Amino acid sequence: MSHIPVLDDLGDVRGKRVLVRTDFNVPMDNGEITDDFRIRAALPTINWLTERGASVVCASHLGRPKGHPEPKYSMAPVRERLAELAPGVDLMENLRFHPGEEGNDPGFVANLIDGVDMYVNDAFGAAHRAHASIVGPPRTLPSAMGLLLQKEVEVLLGLRNNPKRPFVAVLGGAKISDKLGVVEALLNTVDSLVIGGAMCFTFFAAQGKPIGDSLWEPEQLETCKRLLASGKTIHLPEDITGVDAQGAYATFGTRLPDGAKGFDIGPGSAAAFTDIIMDARTVFWNGPMGMFEDDRFAAGTRTVAQAMADTKAFTVVGGGDSAAALAQFGFDDEVDHVSTGGGASLELLELGDLPGLEALRGAPNAV
Ligand code: 3PG
Repeated sequence: MSHIPVLDDLGDVRGKRVLVRTDFNVPMDNGEITDDFRIRAALPTINWLTERGASVVCASHLGRPKGHPEPKYSMAPVRERLAELAPGVDLMENLRFHPGEEGNDPGFVANLIDGVDMYVNDAFGAAHRAHASIVGPPRTLPSAMGLLLQKEVEVLLGLRNNPKRPFVAVLGGAKISDKLGVVEALLNTVDSLVIGGAMCFTFFAAQGKPIGDSLWEPEQLETCKRLLASGKTIHLPEDITGVDAQGAYATFGTRLPDGAKGFDIGPGSAAAFTDIIMDARTVFWNGPMGMFEDDRFAAGTRTVAQAMADTKAFTVVGGGDSAAALAQFGFDDEVDHVSTGGGASLELLELGDLPGLEALRGAPNAV
């Protein structure tokens, strides 16, 4: 695999106009940014460039507008926050206001790099998308990965290729189908897999257990049976909390009665998962253990977050909901690495490469 150029490989950046692809796809509520983690995460790269005399223009997507301007996806609130954190740095309007971004249109790329001397990709969270702003500029411009992208790649490929053992992956969230590729890839690397979140119900069903009215994916039943028969260590919850057929809060074993719905792992499972995390030397966590937005069903996710903070293992949290949960419970500073990418971190773990990295390897200054 050829070398991916880093910032030093850009040469002298003084007086140069540098386009930095960032992932400023931040959570918003009524036009207000609710978490600026992704903006702050890009500052080391932005500062590296401006301190060396470059002029920086950032570009990002926000949300999923369908190729035309939509006021609720305007970058204005992000531009305001960026101006506070990095005065003098420009930010283009939402890349996805133009169909050329997702369509990877060469004409759109040409407009994007008009007047630009160099390109830096620091958008780890979007590096799994073969979109114009990710794969286009390195075809012609001297390019590099930013410090955030570099750190993410080092940490996640380190997990994939050379983890300290025991290596445990804790996976949650609603759907096994979203994570199937990474589950299969992780099963080859990890010493054990811990499954929580609603995805455990498809595994329970695969074991022939009744799951009441809990969320599950019938089309993944055979896959779950195959994974359970693979001979790898898969830890499933030993109890579940949720509501009974009358809608009252209840704790169950692993067989849920008719009409019951499971919304979180139970206290026994949370204790067992804690033990596994405490005994590991590397832990990767992606996906909440339950519906943690509802206080009644937050205990499982909170306990796992606490164990991630307490263990001596090298701890990595893969973006999205689990990062939000970690922040909600105040543990975000107590793990070794919180990835800024959700889908991107899973795809890098699964495939060991991303379209954005491949594009940088082909840049004119790559050796
Ligand atoms: C993310 O939030 O995971 C990234 O910004 C990518 O967003 P997307 O899934 O809309 O491409």
